[in-house]
Amino acid sequence: MEPIKVTKPKERFIKEYVCPDCNRTVTQKELEIPRGPRKGEWIVADYGCICEDMKLVEEAKKRGVAFKNKKMKQLFDYYSLINDALKDATLENYEPTSNELAIAKQNIMTYIQQFDGTKNLLLHGNYGTGKSHLSVSVTKELMERGHECLFLSLPKLLTKIKETYNNKGVTEDELLEVIQRVDLLVLDDIGAEHHTEWANTKLFEVLDDRSGKSTIYTTNLNSNELRAQINERNFSRMMENTDIITMNGRDYRRKEF
Ligand SMILES: Nc1ncnc2c1ncn2[C@@H]1O[C@H](COP(=O)(O)OP(=O)(O)OP(=O)(O)O)[C@@H](O)[C@H]1O
Ligand SMILES: [Mg+2]
Ligand SMILES: [Zn+2]
Repeated sequence: MEPIKVTKPKERFIKEYVCPDCNRTVTQKELEIPRGPRKGEWIVADYGCICEDMKLVEEAKKRGVAFKNKKMKQLFDYYSLINDALKDATLENYEPTSNELAIAKQNIMTYIQQFDGTKNLLLHGNYGTGKSHLSVSVTKELMERGHECLFLSLPKLLTKIKETYNNKGVTEDELLEVIQRVDLLVLDDIGAEHHTEWANTKLFEVLDDRSGKSTIYTTNLNSNELRAQINERNFSRMMENTDIITMNGRDYRRKEF
């Protein structure tokens, strides 16, 4: 068989230069089109510049991040159990009404800056001082930084888990899977309702699933009340690797008149 003859296109060297954008040495050549309707025409081509490739990679990266952020927000919105009053809560619109609350906000900001996915916080204090508000703010800030977050009111979570026993909505397994996987879980309002044995068993499952990962707890109870309500075993789990932030102050929900 005759070997297929490959004709190398005729080419002329034009110049060599360093591309100011990608810093590569680029060879510019003129090539003669070897076949087709434009046969015999000369075209200029640059070899070695990777600007186009880099642009494509950048675009793909940006699309990837946007996609990830959208996915994270969807997961947060879909699985979180959160009051409407907290939907707009941010760090910016939290105005501390006392020195203690200003320190609390400062500590929360430090927590965000130093977030490493392992440390926990316990926010405790009386009603309406912004414990939930600041916890929601943390989820917003961390999601901006690419961390998956979830906000669960514990009383609502326990109700949800009961509902799944009647096959409504999300299953318990699915919930626990999400609880286990997110980088930060907020477990809000611990001990707000009387904890039955069943509730404490469920709480233990959640705490156990979270071991080694970051969780923010909020509660109205002091440590003795909390220990009595959620039992010794849960309490001890909760206090592992946990910094405490005290947030007492005036109830922001109560209108002054
Ligand atoms: N310092 C503040 N600046 C702006 N808004 C605040 C502030 N404190 C509380 N709020 C708002 O007041 C409402 C009650 O606050 P939040 O739910 O965070 O209180 P809490 O400490 O979690 O109370 P509870 O102990 O009853 O759960 C929310 O809508 C919150 O956004
Ligand atoms: Mg709260
Ligand atoms: Zn280039």
